[in-house]
Amino acid sequence: MKHIPVLLDDVLETLGDIKGRTIVDCTFGAGGYSRAFLERGASVIAFDRDTNVNVDANELKKEYGERFRFINSPFSEIKQLNVGDFDDVVFDLGISSMQIDNGERGFSFRFDAPLDMRMDTRTNITAADLINNMSPDDLADVLYEYGDIKKSHFYAKLLKEKQPKTTFELRDLIKNPGDVAPVFQALRIAVNDEMGQIKSALGSVNELIGAGGRCVCVTFHSIEDRIVKNTFRKWTDVAGDPRLPTNDTAPYKLLKVKTPSKDESENNPRARSAHMRGVEKV
Ligand SMILES: C[S@@+](CC[C@H](N)C(=O)[O-])C[C@H]1O[C@@H](n2cnc3c(N)ncnc32)[C@H](O)[C@@H]1O
Repeated sequence: MKHIPVLLDDVLETLGDIKGRTIVDCTFGAGGYSRAFLERGASVIAFDRDTNVNVDANELKKEYGERFRFINSPFSEIKQLNVGDFDDVVFDLGISSMQIDNGERGFSFRFDAPLDMRMDTRTNITAADLINNMSPDDLADVLYEYGDIKKSHFYAKLLKEKQPKTTFELRDLIKNPGDVAPVFQALRIAVNDEMGQIKSALGSVNELIGAGGRCVCVTFHSIEDRIVKNTFRKWTDVAGDPRLPTNDTAPYKLLKVKTPSKDESENNPRARSAHMRGVEKV
């Protein structure tokens, strides 16, 4: 299924009038956000580390020429790749519907496939390798932190012992059906270092973005959202202390915090856990 963009109207509202601005879309996916930015007169520099999104990117290139550039790299490289001047930055984090629905990628327990889960297949470590390489304690931490799995040590020991190589082998080891999706999610986040990526990228954005530049993040996981929330609180507080209230002389001002409407969540189940946060550099 084609990816349905989440919270797009709120992202657009938070960005304001984007005609003539240059926006870095850090998570191109199926290009739903990029297309909306281009249609409203912005130029777009899009990142995605998945090589499978090239077809949609080429489509936009054909339609919009110079106004659209695609960079097939992780967004954490935004600084070292020297992308040139830009105004605003947008992240729509996590995984796309195409990634989850492509059975061969190993993201889903609905399809039998090698236990892969790499967004960027040019990297080396798959989910099966991760289970093999990690210590039982580290694996338990991953399951607990990113999947909220209570019996994390039990599962870590089991996975180390059985070394599942396919999605179905992993699924069948998890006896409690309610734990299957969280275990898959936790391994995916670790394989792709999703929390490390966003932390590093936000650090670079803070250095690169100019006055009046806006940064908008859509998250789908509580830890991911906490990273964004605490970073933005630090930026919007003059003392750099996330526990203090925001202040007029802080380097950024908070624009908007939003979760999906009942309608959006009903029409697009992927949207249910989403949070959007936006700030502007003063
Ligand atoms: C939720 S989808 C984005 C959907 C997009 N906004 C749309 O409207 O079609 C997330 C995309 O971000 C990409 N992605 C996730 N982490 C990334 C990273 N660190 N660097 C580059 N791309 C990343 C994934 O490969 C995926 O295609």
